[in-house]
Amino acid sequence: MNILILGSGGREHALAWAVMQNPKCDRLFVAPGNAGIAGIAECADLDINDGAAVTGFATDNAVDFVIIGPEAPLAAGVADNLRAAGILTFGPSAAAARLEASKAFTKEICDAAGAPTAAYGHFTDAQAARAYLREKGAPIVVKADGLAAGKGVIVAMTEDEALAAVDDMFGGGFGEAGAEVVIEEFMEGEEASFFVLSDGQNVLPIGTAQDHKRAFDGDEGPNTGGMGAYSPAPVLTDAIAEAALSQIVAPTIAEMARRGTPYQGVLYVGLMIRDGQPRLVEYNVRFGDPECQVLMMRLGAQALDLMLAAAEGRLEGARAEWADDHAMTVVMAARGYPGAYQKGNEIGGLEDLPETSREMVFHAGTTMEEGRLVANGGRVLNVTARGASLAEARARAYDMIDQIDWPEGFCRSDIGWRALR
Ligand code: AMP
Ligand code: GLY
Repeated sequence: MNILILGSGGREHALAWAVMQNPKCDRLFVAPGNAGIAGIAECADLDINDGAAVTGFATDNAVDFVIIGPEAPLAAGVADNLRAAGILTFGPSAAAARLEASKAFTKEICDAAGAPTAAYGHFTDAQAARAYLREKGAPIVVKADGLAAGKGVIVAMTEDEALAAVDDMFGGGFGEAGAEVVIEEFMEGEEASFFVLSDGQNVLPIGTAQDHKRAFDGDEGPNTGGMGAYSPAPVLTDAIAEAALSQIVAPTIAEMARRGTPYQGVLYVGLMIRDGQPRLVEYNVRFGDPECQVLMMRLGAQALDLMLAAAEGRLEGARAEWADDHAMTVVMAARGYPGAYQKGNEIGGLEDLPETSREMVFHAGTTMEEGRLVANGGRVLNVTARGASLAEARARAYDMIDQIDWPEGFCRSDIGWRALR
């Protein structure tokens, strides 16, 4: 079959890498892709948030299956466009993508589903929000309702910080995303991510992961999109995963179906775990980036079969076959990220690195300039390895990093510390 993947990051390189290994895949297109993806697939220059353009491309190129990577095209209804044209698609409708695109919607679903999560208030004006903040006090969490590229959440340790966040959001600091605000109880515990596929009715767990959101070692520095990840996440034990499935995920999927907006695709379930109990922090309607890289490394080619089963409504009785192993990915970013950084610096040393089912450098932000591989984003490479233990995966990943010649790049040296301590 011919397959189209939408997106251009390390997540999409990992998806393309897994899909390519499956003999069902004949031609693989990725739009828009990057320099690493271009090595294994045909890249297409396409506005992936434009449903008509994507559907037109898929039709013209006899694409049988589309996998949507990022949240923006999902929230924009690209999956709806494709399905209306009869094209099999992995990813939720715009209505179901509200589980990521609106924090207030997710809280409403949790209420209806009885899913454990932080207590909250939902506000459309600053005055009521300020009054609520004063009543509850700090620490407290202020969230812009809409999509804000990972920047719409302020974990406020003081009341003043929280009040400033409310003023900023209602003052337009987050654009449309901040027109409504959710204020939440601060939850303590350890965070981990649980990934499931759903076909609208059935749910299949496909793995757990933890990422590292801060830029620097010791979880210091500014928040980023994620500086590294590993799978499995030891804190997410089988018992906690079972509790998350029965108390949070299954009731959410049932509530979405009951409303006539069934959820089909991957659901990224962000959990806060304390005293053996999971509570929902957030849903994302896509794979995490870089969590996808470690999941794909552990799932391999079967990832395509499972995504097809989800899209075709065949998940009942489906199983993910796991090798009993560990994977880690370390993000190499451009110096300065997540603030200002340079583009266009040459990256060397990748030619000599292995590309196997145990070791892969996924590209997140690269391009070719006059025959040279250069950095073209904040997060640039995802150096990923598997091992019999997390320590072995870690050693392999950092060995590869030692061989990469990119003076303008940096990475954290402590990915996995929680699980390895
Ligand atoms: P979100 O975009 O909802 O995942 O929020 C980003 C990050 O903020 C999460 O990964 C948590 O680290 C933190 N966070 C969000 N909500 C809460 C909460 N209610 N309590 C504590 N931390 C939170
Ligand atoms: N790594 C966090 C995310 O993809 O949202």
